Amino acid sequence: MSTEEQPRRPKLRIRQATLDDLPEIMRLEVLCFPSPWPQELFERDLRPGPDRLYLAAEVDGELVGYTGMWFYGGEAHIGTLAVASRWRRKGIGEMLILTLLGEARKRGGRYAMLEYRVGNEAAARLYHKLCFSLVRIRKSYYTDTGEDAAEVGMNDLDTSARIQTLADLAHRWHQTHDYELEIDLPAPPG
Ligand SMILES: CC(C)(COP(=O)(O)OP(=O)(O)OC[C@H]1O[C@@H](n2cnc3c(N)ncnc32)[C@H](O)[C@@H]1OP(=O)(O)O)[C@@H](O)C(=O)NCCC(=O)NCCS
Repeated sequence: MSTEEQPRRPKLRIRQATLDDLPEIMRLEVLCFPSPWPQELFERDLRPGPDRLYLAAEVDGELVGYTGMWFYGGEAHIGTLAVASRWRRKGIGEMLILTLLGEARKRGGRYAMLEYRVGNEAAARLYHKLCFSLVRIRKSYYTDTGEDAAEVGMNDLDTSARIQTLADLAHRWHQTHDYELEIDLPAPPG
């Protein structure tokens, strides 16, 4: 029997982001976006509340990504998603959004939506892979460059067909990514 040790798998932990994460999130925000959101906006969004949820992704204790959503009725508006450049194409963005969608459903969400810059190929492919549908093109939506936004949505979040599709994607993710995954989130309010 071989006594060789298996290489250790990196630990990917997805947890609720809090105000304590603000410095690290701002550090990533300015690196990841041409027009970063102001710190005040994150200070508001990272405060715990029943109408919002932000997630942080850590690899071996290092914050490498984040995402967040707001709820309006049964709708989840995904406001942001970013992964540190050296951790991209390693499944972290996909697992952040899969986790967020699961949390939206647990909170009674039936519909999820977001916008991205039409020229953002990585975002376009990610949301296509996750089965979001194009709702409309919003002309000149981004005031910094005048770029159009693609608004994409996912309905029927609470149906068994959608739950199965997302479970299949998560299953495939586990088959293709070699992390020790820990999802550490509080029970939804109420
Ligand atoms: C968009 C972003 C969050 C993707 O995160 P990521 O962790 O690298 O994405 P993943 O590794 O989970 O990729 C999942 C899928 O998305 C697609 N994808 C992601 N990045 C891609 C790229 N650069 N080119 C092509 N497809 C890409 C692929 O379909 C990929 O699946 P595959 O690896 O099986 O082909 C990351 O590129 C980023 O932070 N970009 C800067 C900020 C930004 O644009 N945020 C999105 C705003 S809406």
